[in-house]
Amino acid sequence: MTQAEDFNNNASIIAATAERVKARLSGEGSGHDWFHVERVWRNARRIGAGEQVDMFVVELAALLHDIADWKFAGGDDSAGPREARAWLESLHVDEGTIAHVCDIIKNLSFKGARVKSEMKTREGMVVQDADRLDALGAIGIARAFAYGGHKGSELYNPDVKPEFHASFEDYKRSRGNTINHFYEKLLLLKELMNTETAIQIAEQRHKVMENFLEQFLAEWNGTR
Ligand code: ADP
Ligand code: NI
Repeated sequence: MTQAEDFNNNASIIAATAERVKARLSGEGSGHDWFHVERVWRNARRIGAGEQVDMFVVELAALLHDIADWKFAGGDDSAGPREARAWLESLHVDEGTIAHVCDIIKNLSFKGARVKSEMKTREGMVVQDADRLDALGAIGIARAFAYGGHKGSELYNPDVKPEFHASFEDYKRSRGNTINHFYEKLLLLKELMNTETAIQIAEQRHKVMENFLEQFLAEWNGTR
C-alpha cells in the first residue's frame, strides 16, 4: 500500500469506528455516553499533537476505551478489550495495532487511589490523560453527580470519611457519597497526568473543582 492509500484506509477505519461507538453509546445516562467519547477523542488528538506517537493507535484507543466498561459488564474488565478486538479484526486492522489498542483499554481505568497504573507506552499515556481530563473541571463535576445519581449515592454525607482504596476490588465495592469521590479520585488526578499538555489543562480544571467544593461545603454548613 502507498502512504496515501494507507492514510485513506486508516481514516476510514477511524470514521467507521466512530460511527460504531456512537451507535452503541448514544443516550447512555451515567456519563459514559458518546459525547464523553467524542471529548476524549478530541482531547487525545490535542495532547497527541505534542507527542511522538502513533496517532492511529491513539485515536482508536480513545474511541473504543469505554465500549464495555467493567462497571457495566458485571465487574468484568476484559469485556472492553475483547469487544474492541473483535471489532478491529472485522476491519482487518493489523495485529500489532490491535494488541496495542487492547492493552491501552485494559489499563486505562482508574482502579483506586493507591493502585498504580500500568500504562506502558506514550500512546497509552496520551489516551489516559485525555480520559482523565474529562473527569475534571465543570464537566467532571457534572459527570460525578450524574454517575452518583445513577448509582443512587448520596450527594454528601459528613459522617462518611473518604477512603483511599489500595486494591481494585475495594474501589469497585465502595459505596461512598459523591463529594467523597472528589477526594478519593478527582482531586488526585492532576498529579497523575503523564503529558505536559494535560498537566496544564488539568491545573485550571482542578481549581474549578476546588472552588466548587469550597462553595458547596460553605453552603452545606450555612456559612455562605
Ligand atoms: P475511568 O473509566 O476513567 O476510570 P470512570 O469510568 O471511573 O472513569 O468514571 C467515569 C465518570 O464517573 C468520571 O467522571 C468519574 O469521576 C465518575 N465516577 C466514577 N465513580 C464515581 C463515584 N463513585 N461517584 C461519583 N462519580 C463517579
Ligand atoms: Ni472514559
